Amino acid sequence: MSAEIPKATVVKYIRAPDKLDKGHAVQYEMADGKLVNKPLIGDWNHFEMMIGKRGQGKSTLMLERMLDLDMEANGAYKIAHSLGQRFPTKLPSKRVFQLRYHNTIQSLDSWLRRKPDDIHVVTSDDAQPVLEYAQQLGRAVKRDALGYFARKKQPLGQPATPIIVGIDEMVALDAAMGSAQGKDASRWFRKLIISLRHEHIALIAGIQDSNAVSYVNAGLATKLWCFKTTHLYAIQSLRAGGMDPADLDRLPKLDVGEKIEVDV
Ligand SMILES: Nc1ncnc2c1ncn2[C@@H]1O[C@H](COP(=O)(O)OP(=O)(O)OP(=O)(O)O)[C@@H](O)[C@H]1O
Ligand SMILES: [Mg+2]
Repeated sequence: MSAEIPKATVVKYIRAPDKLDKGHAVQYEMADGKLVNKPLIGDWNHFEMMIGKRGQGKSTLMLERMLDLDMEANGAYKIAHSLGQRFPTKLPSKRVFQLRYHNTIQSLDSWLRRKPDDIHVVTSDDAQPVLEYAQQLGRAVKRDALGYFARKKQPLGQPATPIIVGIDEMVALDAAMGSAQGKDASRWFRKLIISLRHEHIALIAGIQDSNAVSYVNAGLATKLWCFKTTHLYAIQSLRAGGMDPADLDRLPKLDVGEKIEVDV
């Protein structure tokens, strides 16, 4: 956590969207008072990176993946950070979605409760408060999953509504920089990445040049989506990350929207 802890940390409790809006249409079933068809805490593991030059379709795919994971989770919180209003309004899949932009975490917090099905994007020059907010929300979700009388129980294995976080430009996150060992400022982020499934958070992050952040991040990803990349060092870092040499040769020649999916 940063020294300057944002207001997000005082958020004590946020209800799951499916519980908030009794009448709304998220498909889930109640069985024995428990949420079924929701991912289990500790069992949902997604950290995906979109890598490639500007204008190749990273943000577009990020939205698509947020909606894919939302489906997989049977309804999830969807929050994102962007340096400006840079997400597309239409998707190749033609899926319908509602984007809401916010300038502050406070606005994100209050609108997330009001419109839990929408994608809430904070626009600022620093992505860290959004991640810290997501952690707070994850903890509230975990507490809620245990129920009032089971505070000391282990939340692992409980079904609960997860949080999907999109970081449009990873360079907006200082903690993503650093060497392999990291530095003090990046350590909390490394820990977060390692413990995403325990925090009940799926993270999707975009970066134009994988060298602009620590290569350790890509090494910890569960999936890389590689768009057109021409810079030699960026290509080499993907090679170091385990990409097939035959795929590396294709990277500079990819068309807009074309990508290579790497499971790592
Ligand atoms: N699958 C696709 N097929 C064709 N065109 C696409 C596809 N995905 C995105 N595009 C188009 O490419 C353009 C850039 O998309 P997008 O904003 O997602 O790229 P980006 O990689 O995030 O760019 P930047 O690095 O500048 O943020 C948009 O006009 C978008 O409509
Ligand atoms: Mg983009």
